[in-house]
Amino acid sequence: MATSPETSADGPPDKPDNSAVVNIGLMGFGVVGTGVAAHILGSNFSMADVTGRTVNLKKVLVRDASLTRDVELPAGVLTTNAEDILTDPDIHIVVEVMGGTDPAENYIKQALSSGKHIVTANKEVMAKLGPELMTLARQNNANLLFEASVGGGIPIVGCMMNELAANDIRSIRSIINGTTNYILTKMAHEGTAFKEALGEAQALGYAESDPTNDIEGIDASYKLTILASLAYRRSFQPSEVYCEGISKLEPQDFRYAEELGYAIKSLAIANLEEGAVQLRVYPALVPAEHMLAKVDGVYNAVEVDGSLCGPVLFHGMGAGRAPTTSAIIGDVVEAVRKMGSNSPLLEPHNGTELTVRPIGDLVSRYYVRLEVADHPGVLAQIAQILGDGQISIAAVLQRDTHPETESAEIVITTHPAREQSMQNALKAMTDLPQVKRVSNTLRIEE
Ligand code: NAP
Ligand code: HSE
Repeated sequence: MATSPETSADGPPDKPDNSAVVNIGLMGFGVVGTGVAAHILGSNFSMADVTGRTVNLKKVLVRDASLTRDVELPAGVLTTNAEDILTDPDIHIVVEVMGGTDPAENYIKQALSSGKHIVTANKEVMAKLGPELMTLARQNNANLLFEASVGGGIPIVGCMMNELAANDIRSIRSIINGTTNYILTKMAHEGTAFKEALGEAQALGYAESDPTNDIEGIDASYKLTILASLAYRRSFQPSEVYCEGISKLEPQDFRYAEELGYAIKSLAIANLEEGAVQLRVYPALVPAEHMLAKVDGVYNAVEVDGSLCGPVLFHGMGAGRAPTTSAIIGDVVEAVRKMGSNSPLLEPHNGTELTVRPIGDLVSRYYVRLEVADHPGVLAQIAQILGDGQISIAAVLQRDTHPETESAEIVITTHPAREQSMQNALKAMTDLPQVKRVSNTLRIEE
């Protein structure tokens, strides 16, 4: 995988860098950036002990230099001018923890083009531009490391690239958004309202600057894109991931799920079947005894099923300052160690072009919650629609009736059915005058 000094045909000749002092330019000094800076500056951890070189934090880029920060920097280190990092030939490694694509994308490209190594936590940039950036890194004999972009402190990216590389990956089933999992746990176990739980996740530093990315599944779809691209050696795009968020969940869904023996978890799944990959992120019912149902709070879990290793489970804190700092510092250590040999760690994906299976082809069990008129014969009409779509009912629950509005809430679970048939049936149910609302539809992952 790594390009040897002789084979870097399309890049500048290798010049092994043996500097005794390695200078870091840190772009971003928020939740993650302050953790990284504190760790590099801290007296309890010596980079020299693990890398053999002195690691120096030379510049830290922010937007607003007047803000009060948790971590004190030596005089002259803070800057609002990115060029202080990008054009400084003595800065060897750029750690990008700003987030978003603009201006992060350009800064990363500029840094790589001048042979600087990049360590980034930016899942959006890596999901959308990973292969292009890897090519640029290779052409410039630079390393591009992104362990922190998926799973916080869980060392999953490196394992996908190295330790699991011998496997054909059959599937990845994961919980990879800490904010979402924190909210779902609070709603399920403590009855916390959605907004309150989100506010707590933001205060704890778990959420993205725009938490829409977390709660609508976008952040998880970026991470799944990265994992799938590593697993299947094809450059997937986030737009190829079918994505639903958790914002439609209501307290009753947690009650019904528990009664039926399930937990609600936001899952990110990639699986390969008959030469096609299916990529999906959505909240789903998971059997209460399944290990993914027991992953709570900010914890993430990734189960990788490989042809040789079988199912391997990774579990750990998926967001927050400390776990993300762990992943970033690990990458910095790796980049420093690799500097002497100038052997890039990554090649762009060049695997076979697998197709992506549309979500309509999914076969799943379903949970449907409906608000209907509390009249005789309504259930029969719904059953007829499901029957017409070859969808077999597994169970029906009716708990809440509202005499004042003559309405009732019913929950139906089904046996395995095709997604497209289910979507057609839901549309037909919505068109029934007796159905006031299809309140929620969730897939049941067994
Ligand atoms: P954050 O707290 O919002 O910090 C962002 C930092 O970047 C701030 O210091 C900000 O400067 C700086 N910044 C943003 N845009 C800038 C610009 N145009 N020019 C200069 N500086 C700019 O974000 P975060 O939570 O640390 O996350 C950073 C990255 O890590 C994101 O890609 C995120 O997805 C990823 N990540 C976060 C976590 C987590 O748990 N938080 C975990 C894994 C990965 P000011 O301070 O002056 O505003
Ligand atoms: N906002 C992200 C999450 C941060 O909650 O998982 C970690 O990538």
